[in-house]
Amino acid sequence: MVTKELKAENIRQELQEYSRKPKSLIPILQFIQSQHGYLPRDFMEEVGNYLGLAPSKVYSVASFYAQFRFEPLGEHLVKVCHGTACHVKGAENVTETVESQLGISMGETTADEKFTVERVACLGCCSLAPAMMIDDTVYGNLTRDKIKNILTDYKEEQS
Ligand code: FES
Repeated sequence: MVTKELKAENIRQELQEYSRKPKSLIPILQFIQSQHGYLPRDFMEEVGNYLGLAPSKVYSVASFYAQFRFEPLGEHLVKVCHGTACHVKGAENVTETVESQLGISMGETTADEKFTVERVACLGCCSLAPAMMIDDTVYGNLTRDKIKNILTDYKEEQS
């Protein structure tokens, strides 16, 4: 297991790739999230030290953008599409079914850390509306039963 100190040391090395200017903040945050799946709070201080910004400033900038997460993702990321075509074809029903099947609300992660669910804009497969994506797989023409079966398969898979 990677220790907290090792992670902090790694981020210090990674930061050397960026100029020590405030304009580097967003690219740095994007890089950290691409590596870790979210922005660990411990790293906000390291980033602030590097750029000469208070950790609270780093956090407030990061929290302004919806793209950044502050909690780790579950093993599977379920994205429920709420683009126009999916909205018209019942995205709210998909959301309700996913939430009730997993026992969490949009933006949350299950207690066993197996699923994170989020609401997204168009997934780019409108002809399949209503649609959702789990990791890299798109599921379309969703009905309540279809969603239950899909999620059951993921729940029962061997990790
Ligand atoms: S609106 Fe849902 S895939 Fe385009």
